[in-house]
Amino acid sequence: MTVAIYPGSFDPPTNGHLDIIGRAGCIFSKVIVAVLENRRKTPLFTVDERVMMLKRITAPYQNVEIDSFRGLLVDYARMKNAAVLIKGLRSTGDFEYELQMALVNRKLAPQVETLFMITNNDYSYLSSSIVKEIAAYGGDISAMVPMEIRDLVLQRIRANGEKQQF
Ligand code: PNS
Repeated sequence: MTVAIYPGSFDPPTNGHLDIIGRAGCIFSKVIVAVLENRRKTPLFTVDERVMMLKRITAPYQNVEIDSFRGLLVDYARMKNAAVLIKGLRSTGDFEYELQMALVNRKLAPQVETLFMITNNDYSYLSSSIVKEIAAYGGDISAMVPMEIRDLVLQRIRANGEKQQF
């Protein structure tokens, strides 16, 4: 049984994230979607809210689990007996950044493999930051986030008003 971890901020989860989760679920026996508890960023949603949203949108997937973690990703991967870290790639910009992280993670834990999955063309323009910015200016995000969480995102953006950071 090969366990894979798909880590990220997921603030909020997008259709691009969900596409990667679905495709990873077809390859691995179990996929753990792991929300990073990142103290440096000012998130739109709490970690618990992001976990709840991910649980809601992945409910149809039997082999997908949602969790959160703090600290080093490789330590979390070891704790979960995961052999693979999944990262989504949209662009060469993503690659530059992810390559460095993959090399650092390999140095720290050579037994954990990083696997890059190329984005679906339909979502290559998408990111959580873009979703927040479009929603803040009243744009339509219905093609960008799963419909189960669209209203939550819009409500939170409206409630935050001027305070919102992208
Ligand atoms: O969705 P994001 O914010 O691009 O995800 C980044 C994430 C969570 C994958 C990355 O920040 C991470 O792995 N953080 C955990 C801390 C860690 O292990 N750092 C060392 C790797 S360089």
